[in-house]
Amino acid sequence: MFTKIIATGSYLPEKVLTNDDLSKIVDTSDEWIRTRSGIRSRHIAADGEETSDLAVTAATRALAASGLSVLDIDLLVVATTTPDVIFPSTACIVQDKLGAKNAVAFDIQAVCSGFVYALSIVDRMVSTGQYKNALVIGAEIYSRILNWNDRTTCVLFGDGAGAVVVTRSETPGILATKLHSDGSRRAILNVPGHVRNGVVYGDPHVHMDGQAVFKMAVNVMADVCNETLAMANMTAADIDWLVPHQANVRIIDATGKKLGVAPEKTVVTVQGQGNTSAASIPLALDTAVRDGRIKAGDVVQTVGVGGGFTWGSALIRW
Ligand code: ACO
Repeated sequence: MFTKIIATGSYLPEKVLTNDDLSKIVDTSDEWIRTRSGIRSRHIAADGEETSDLAVTAATRALAASGLSVLDIDLLVVATTTPDVIFPSTACIVQDKLGAKNAVAFDIQAVCSGFVYALSIVDRMVSTGQYKNALVIGAEIYSRILNWNDRTTCVLFGDGAGAVVVTRSETPGILATKLHSDGSRRAILNVPGHVRNGVVYGDPHVHMDGQAVFKMAVNVMADVCNETLAMANMTAADIDWLVPHQANVRIIDATGKKLGVAPEKTVVTVQGQGNTSAASIPLALDTAVRDGRIKAGDVVQTVGVGGGFTWGSALIRW
């Protein structure tokens, strides 16, 4: 048995924060942010709006596009690094808010690779026949873990959610997945602080060595794409759409070049969203499905990379 993505959905919070808005908060400029990252604006969740709320709206839109009822969903996985609370999982909160009573629900934490990790796990759980219809959601509110006085990080991220519906299928949809981790590289991108017994230890905001992350991302993204292509007996020439994690246009361009995929075949949404971590790939997928670029039968190469360090790829026949 195989698995197939049959529908997508996404949600971006209403509030838009432009580069010019940011230049009033920290010492930066639209020109610096655009030339270094390609980002022009990002969305910011409202007070009281939780990661689970973003996830629920994205999932509701994906479900509507799938034609399935929420009660048909028997597996619900949320990839997030910014859960509503330490526990229960955001997936359990989403299950309740959606009314997905028949679903087993859990979270995956692999930072910006979380969606690809979740898709890989769900592919196994559905293709073995144990589950039939899954919701895989990436949802993040990074605006709450950023230091808004640190111009080297706060300009790069945004909030949002994307979702896909994965079902059992007689024909191949998800063709191959490959995941990697290297915990020895955890210091280049992390949130070092935490709260214990009500006391904050360290800094509970995103820390990043931008240049080290840039080099690592460019090194590993094309390689893991080639691994999944080889598993499916394909080459980069077979790719109709490259849908990479949306961190930075320069990382995306360098990955496309290294892999040999033309810019016209690469989906880029980071300009208006910033880096939405685990939400970025399903947000980009939904954009390209709804604007008619990704069509049935297309070969779609997704690739994620993020803190941990983690990276992975899922090769999909749409
Ligand atoms: N506005 C203006 N100046 C800034 C800003 C800012 N927002 N941020 C940093 N600067 C300054 C620095 O202080 C430095 O000044 P100095 O030379 O006086 O010391 C100068 O700009 C250059 O800083 P660098 O860090 O060398 O800039 P670089 O060209 O490397 O670009 C960037 C920084 C954009 C972070 C780049 O390294 C990058 O793209 N890294 C990848 C990071 C990324 O995408 N992370 C996303 C999370 S990871 C993931 O999703 C995989």
